[in-house]
Amino acid sequence: MAPGGNGGITIRPYEAPDRPFVRRICFETGYMGDPEWQWRDRESYADLFTSYYTDDEPESALVVERGGEVAGYLLGCIDSQAARSEAAVFGRLMWSRWVVVRPSTAPFVWRSFADVIRDRLDGHPGPAPVRDHRWPAHLHIDLLSSVRGQGVGGTLLRTWQERLRRLGVPGCHVQTLAENRRAIGAFQSVGFRLMGSAAPAPGLRTPTGDRHHVQVLVWETEPRPAERSAAQPRG
Ligand SMILES: CC(C)(COP(=O)(O)OP(=O)(O)OC[C@H]1O[C@@H](n2cnc3c(N)ncnc32)[C@H](O)[C@@H]1OP(=O)(O)O)[C@@H](O)C(=O)NCCC(=O)NCCS
Repeated sequence: MAPGGNGGITIRPYEAPDRPFVRRICFETGYMGDPEWQWRDRESYADLFTSYYTDDEPESALVVERGGEVAGYLLGCIDSQAARSEAAVFGRLMWSRWVVVRPSTAPFVWRSFADVIRDRLDGHPGPAPVRDHRWPAHLHIDLLSSVRGQGVGGTLLRTWQERLRRLGVPGCHVQTLAENRRAIGAFQSVGFRLMGSAAPAPGLRTPTGDRHHVQVLVWETEPRPAERSAAQPRG
């Protein structure tokens, strides 16, 4: 997306000075794009979902600029098993940020622990990290509301897919809330497909108190054989 090509929106590689803006956007778009997030500590939230990507794999990050300001990002990881996991970051935050007792995070953390135990007892395993050689890459994508619905998310995703093809990475997975219809629509529009059924998300509640669910979607760099033969001209 070229400068001025779409309402002054530009997509470019991430640079170190973008870091605080990426962290702010991460928090402000946390709950399906809504700032009313149930985890109310910005620093730990941004650490959980952006620090690996900005600090350890910045070459896989893209940012969206509008009017000279960062308005969104795609944070990628080409090898999820080699990357620092969110669970590892969370473990560190227990001590560095005291998230288990901090008033802005403790209710969420304890509700999550209770959900995990209850779900196990009920025989509903929660969401698990995807460890599959077919989809080693993963990503996070978040846009401020001012740049949504204009094709920017689709362009970011296609740019990331192109990078994976160039690097010879076989595929990518993504985890989102099953209730986030717009995100699922955006992933499906660039070829991701639902993988498995949605699992109850520990800790998360809708505004009416219902559980949220995590859905995995996957995409292969090369079309699968069935898709390839369907695409071949007949006769
Ligand atoms: C989800 C998000 C990245 C999508 O980016 P976007 O720029 O708004 O989406 P686009 O305008 O590029 O649309 C991409 C596709 O999604 C589809 N889509 C958009 N809104 C949709 C909706 N409500 N339901 C289903 N599909 C939808 C569009 O039809 C489009 O497909 P097309 O290109 O075939 O027409 C962006 O809206 C966002 O950041 N939302 C808030 C944060 C968030 O939810 N992040 C994802 C967490 S995993």
